[in-house]
Amino acid sequence: MGFRVLGTGGCLPRRRVTNDELSQFLDTSDEWIRQRTGIAARHVCTTETLDDLATKAASEALRMAGVSPEDLDLVVCSTTSSDHLMPAEASAVSERLGARCPSFDVSAACAGFIFALDAADGWFARGRARYALVIGAERYSRILDWNDRATCVLFGDGAGAVVLGQADEGPLSLRLSTRPEVAALDVPGVTGNSPFYEGPQGPSVLSMKGREVFKFGVTSVVREIRALAKEAGMQPTDITHLVLHQANGRILDSATNALGLDPARVERTIQETGNISSACIPFALDRMVRQGRVHPGDTLAMVGFGAGLSVGSCLLRWDQLSAHVDDPQKPAAAPAD
Ligand code: UT7
Repeated sequence: MGFRVLGTGGCLPRRRVTNDELSQFLDTSDEWIRQRTGIAARHVCTTETLDDLATKAASEALRMAGVSPEDLDLVVCSTTSSDHLMPAEASAVSERLGARCPSFDVSAACAGFIFALDAADGWFARGRARYALVIGAERYSRILDWNDRATCVLFGDGAGAVVLGQADEGPLSLRLSTRPEVAALDVPGVTGNSPFYEGPQGPSVLSMKGREVFKFGVTSVVREIRALAKEAGMQPTDITHLVLHQANGRILDSATNALGLDPARVERTIQETGNISSACIPFALDRMVRQGRVHPGDTLAMVGFGAGLSVGSCLLRWDQLSAHVDDPQKPAAAPAD
């Protein structure tokens, strides 16, 4: 038993921040950010919460799928920047939606959406779910050091979601891996105010060894695309769409060149969103679906990579979704409150 995608959704906060705006308080420039990363702007929360973004993306996906929240058997959310240390972000979204099923979060940073997809796949494989909601939602604007030009220009906030339905077959291939290394990309937990704690104190903000993670990203994408294609008895060039983690446009270029792929097959949202971590893949997928660019029979490879250092990849054959999309361009309903 496996799953198929019945609906997709996505949401960005209203506030768009350009590179020029960042250069007003950081020693950076639009030219540097565009050339080194491919990012022109990102969206950041002002009044919105992560609950708002995740619920809106989920509502859109449910609406496209024609599935009501009460019919969900599972809600999984991938996030490392939740509004809550507890309960799970997935539980907060479930409360807003009116879902009554088990809900939990997955923490695998930028690879997290694929890890969450794998968890849901297990529920379908064991016959425990007819419908599942899988969300990637991130609010990195709250965990960035806004004085560090090497990291804060890279990230944004956003959410994406998919509704999955039971099907006879699962993904053509789904792979997870971790090469453990904390220091490459780390956000330490909050120190708290225990009167007994005597260890180091420090801010809970993101730090990254950019060049190391860059190389890890390129080698991971190339390896995973080759492996996914091999497991499915295909060549990388046979894959219709590549929905890759949007960490840096140069990572996408390097991987595309190394694999000899047509750049038009590699989805790009980074120029408008920056890196929205585990929301990158479902957000990009939603945009492709709503623009009518995914067709029955297409193959779709997704690769997420990042802190951990973790990598998740998945190859799907797109079959039934179009049957459920009466008007994909129709604006989504407002989030439930
Ligand atoms: O989602 C998780 C995965 N994350 C990633 O995959 C990120 C991977 N890494 C990257 O995308 C790139 O390494 C960065 C975009 C983070 C950095 O690009 P880079 O080409 O590797 O630059 P660099 O770190 O080698 O820095 C080159 C120069 C340095 O100046 P000096 O030492 O050469 O004088 C930096 O201080 O660029 C400087 N620099 C900047 N200059 C203007 C770093 N950030 C900025 C900035 N504006 N925002």
